[in-house]
Amino acid sequence: MKDFSIFLFGVITYLLLIESQSCAADSVNPCCYYPCQNSGVCVRFGADGYRCDCTRTGYYGDNCTTPELWSRVRAMLRPRPAAIHYFLTHFQWFWDFINSCFLRDTFMTLVLTVRSELIPSPPTYNTKYGYLSWESYINISYYTRLLPPVPEDCPLPMGTKGKSVLPEPNVLAERFFKRKKFRPDPQGTNLMFSFMAQHFTHQFFKTNHDVQAGFTKALGHGVDASNIYGDDLVRQHQLRLHEDGKMKYQVVDGEMYPPTVSDVPVHMVYPKGFPPERQLAIGQEFFGIVPGLTMYATLWLREHNRVCDILKAEHPTWDDEQLFQTTRLIIIGEIINIIIEDYVQHLSGYLFKLKFDPSLLFGERFQYSNRIALEFCQLYHWHPLMPDSFLIDGDQIPYSQFMYNTSVLLHYGVEKLVDAFSRQPAGQIGGGQNSHEAVLKVAEMVIRESRATRVQPFNEYRKKFNLEPYASFQELTDDADMANALEELYGDIDALEFYPGIMLEKAHSSSIFGESMVEMGAPFSLKGLLGNPICSPHYWKPSTFGGETGFNIVKTSTLKKLVCLNTKWCPFVDFHIPRKEEESQRKESSSEL
Ligand code: HEM
Ligand SMILES: *[C@@H]1O[C@H](CO)[C@@H](O)[C@H](O)[C@H]1NC(C)=O
Ligand SMILES: *[C@@H]1O[C@H](CO)[C@@H](O)[C@H](O)[C@H]1NC(C)=O
Ligand SMILES: *[C@@H]1O[C@H](CO)[C@@H](O)[C@H](O)[C@H]1NC(C)=O
Repeated sequence: MKDFSIFLFGVITYLLLIESQSCAADSVNPCCYYPCQNSGVCVRFGADGYRCDCTRTGYYGDNCTTPELWSRVRAMLRPRPAAIHYFLTHFQWFWDFINSCFLRDTFMTLVLTVRSELIPSPPTYNTKYGYLSWESYINISYYTRLLPPVPEDCPLPMGTKGKSVLPEPNVLAERFFKRKKFRPDPQGTNLMFSFMAQHFTHQFFKTNHDVQAGFTKALGHGVDASNIYGDDLVRQHQLRLHEDGKMKYQVVDGEMYPPTVSDVPVHMVYPKGFPPERQLAIGQEFFGIVPGLTMYATLWLREHNRVCDILKAEHPTWDDEQLFQTTRLIIIGEIINIIIEDYVQHLSGYLFKLKFDPSLLFGERFQYSNRIALEFCQLYHWHPLMPDSFLIDGDQIPYSQFMYNTSVLLHYGVEKLVDAFSRQPAGQIGGGQNSHEAVLKVAEMVIRESRATRVQPFNEYRKKFNLEPYASFQELTDDADMANALEELYGDIDALEFYPGIMLEKAHSSSIFGESMVEMGAPFSLKGLLGNPICSPHYWKPSTFGGETGFNIVKTSTLKKLVCLNTKWCPFVDFHIPRKEEESQRKESSSEL
């Protein structure tokens, strides 16, 4: 009898165990399979059920896979992004025609609306909230997220595919990111562009490393020029002269530079023990790190004070505050113009001539607000741009003498730095194995950050941006060694992480990076630029900028003017290396082969 009850107990326990095991297996969160296609929203029901909300996706069915009639037609007619890119970067005669007539406006409006439609506005998720919530909307200390985080309870790190342990970040950095031999960008990008990229983006990418992952210190969420004026009011007032709207400065060799920290005691990040009289006081606390940034800080400082003089001459009755505030709006307008017409123009490689004209959107459905996304911050880690060393006025300067060295700017002066940076080629961003040792650790940090914030697989982002998910690592990259090594480490292309995916993808032919960087970067970028309040109908008018004079400064600003209206002599200045040198370089490298 006793034996029997033990036997019975054993059977029951066994059955219960089986039951609970199969129950555990059944109750894998079904959203871990990313079942909802075409931007459908996955919602869990019961223990193991889910539904896809396909509202306004243009698709229906369990997984939002069946197209409505209109979506079917559109999918048939819509050319592939690769074809559009080819078209935009070829056929000079065609674009010469478009650029010179009213079709330029029509086309620019199309570019802006098609790109920014991909960015939800108001924003949706963040690192804590994978569903819509008031907290996620209202708490701007978070970066927003385009796709929700990988659910916490998924069986594998990337959902349901790939290996149970992701590759070590330092292994990824060593094998796929570390530079073997400097590969210049085939589009001719130079260091002037690279430092602009760093200077410009660090006004809205300021990850807060003091708290858990997914938070930002840049609460302006866009082009607010906080890299010039500081990201809070206390810092702004410390940096301001409180006279004629101007910013504080020091004069060295008869030229205007940012003041030293001993004169303006704001917190700047420098190595421990770095003397305050050799630290420069700048809006962005990290900008002491390289002379490329202190150079741009100097240019914008001079431009601000130059515009103040112009405004003061027209408005002698205005107080310091109004001169400062109006100048800041002008500076923001200048930044946006230079970024669209010089910077993005260069980066895109498009033969179509981009145009900064906010009025193009006045007839369209467009929200004037912006929230910086974590994915945007991740994809903008363009450290392969950085060269092996810096060539200034005939001197080859290694990283050890370049970083945190204030003397470089004061010794050579702005003119020589602009000239040097405009001539020196930057590295190609895409394709992998092009990050200098000095910045290699950053790739590791990005990957760690993406795991802490549970960023979804690269292929899910491909789908989100209307791109075909890659079917294999061999399709992702032409480099067979890299493809095989990635396959071995990740196990499944659907488990490949976002940052490695976007950086290691094969580049468009003769381009700085590949399809995904263009198709995902451009929407975030254009939405951020045109979503600025100064681009909205109630702001975009002369009075906002102190009258026609200020409005014209905004509408006609260029990189070249930013430099040459603020220097004693006008150096070679461009985002592209000199065209002749590029040709001779190409010959050199082909003769090497
Ligand atoms: C020698 C030059 C450079 C050095 C030493 C450097 C170093 C660093 C370091 C240490 C970080 C922090 C990494 C982290 O905490 O995750 C960082 C972040 C970043 N860097 Fe660079 N970087 C350089 C150039 C550039 C350039 C040219 C770009 C061009 C876009 C760039 C874009 C970024 C971005 C977007 C971030 C993220 C900022 C944030 O989330 O707060 N960096 N960099
Ligand atoms: C929807 O997706 C799930 C998970 O990927 C799959 O198992 C199921 O067969 C799909 N349903 C339909 C109707 O395609
Ligand atoms: C935003 O959320 C974080 C984390 O929950 C919290 O610490 C912070 O106080 C919130 N910020 C505001 C302004 O509510
Ligand atoms: C800083 O740069 C100056 C000018 O290029 C150079 O002479 C000096 O040696 C550098 N300082 C350090 C600590 O590398």
